[in-house]
Amino acid sequence: VIAPALRGMRAGEQQSIDRRMCELDGTGGKSHLGANAILAVSLANAQAAAKAAGMPLYRFLGGTGMNRLPVPMMNILGGGVHAAGGPDTQEFMILPVGAASFSEAVRAGSEIYHQLGRLLLAKGFSTAVGDEGGYAPAIEEDAQAIELILEAIRKAGYAPGLDVKLAIDGAVSGWYRDGAYHRPKRGDTLDREALADHWKRLVSAYPIASLEDPMGEEDWTGWQQLTAALGSTVRLVGDDLFVTCKARLEQGIAAGAANAILIKPNQVGTLSETIETVRAAERAGYTPILSHRSGETEDSTIADLAVALGVGLIKAGAPCRGERTAKYTRLLRIEGALGGQAVYAGAEALAG
Ligand code: PGA
Ligand code: ZN
Repeated sequence: VIAPALRGMRAGEQQSIDRRMCELDGTGGKSHLGANAILAVSLANAQAAAKAAGMPLYRFLGGTGMNRLPVPMMNILGGGVHAAGGPDTQEFMILPVGAASFSEAVRAGSEIYHQLGRLLLAKGFSTAVGDEGGYAPAIEEDAQAIELILEAIRKAGYAPGLDVKLAIDGAVSGWYRDGAYHRPKRGDTLDREALADHWKRLVSAYPIASLEDPMGEEDWTGWQQLTAALGSTVRLVGDDLFVTCKARLEQGIAAGAANAILIKPNQVGTLSETIETVRAAERAGYTPILSHRSGETEDSTIADLAVALGVGLIKAGAPCRGERTAKYTRLLRIEGALGGQAVYAGAEALAG
């Protein structure tokens, strides 16, 4: 369906190609052709254009000056809808910000991940993993999960807060019903204020640098209040809130909701729109974070995109499972190709 509409167009004209596909789809939400189909063609076109130009994709899209490697946000423990056995909170991530290079960051992340596995086994928990490779032990309390992660960080020889910061994806839209938050596994209910207090307590007790979807995607009041309370010190990341959509982001900017945005190319559906949303976020002082999906392939385009666009953070799962490690491997290769030019984003990536 798509190919005949693109025949005769030039691969170098990415925006025209993306626009043609959007017209062909004809719906605001890409519901006719589907964002995954459109995105596959959009990214394949970019890859082909880069190949024809004899350049790696990050160089083709970003130019010669782009040499910054992002901080990996590694989901090492979680549950929610990604793992039946784990906690209600979807993801607990480690960010090895203190590493000297991207490769050292991957090493630290991997060492901590395996320390956590040993620790969970020793304490009688399961080490089965969820969709993104994080362990999914039967732990209910967020604080207990964090304490275990801190222990794993220390056992691996790193200092929590200094070498390694933490991030959480609450993904709480799935908990929101009739104006309150119902945690399905715990079976309890929190109102907006109680949920905000819960996050505030965790942020004051632990080295948490980033909270994703801490409020529901339609709870703008909750987002505004939490942003006013924590926005100067913590990245408050809209994933379900913004769905990589520039119009939703602009609504958030106007409302003072969140200060960071997850960038998932298949949420918006074309490379051009992905780049537009990243630039719109940067103009407003919102931190963009390139991201995989829980359902993934071994395609590693987001690794090239992070470097090409100069995005300082990438969320690509645990250092486990091929579709996750593919992104880290690609970044290791880019770092190797950049050689002495490569710069690791480090803690600066989290600065507001
Ligand atoms: P999803 O999960 O790909 O299932 O949306 C990832 C996330 O919530 O960040
Ligand atoms: Zn999320």
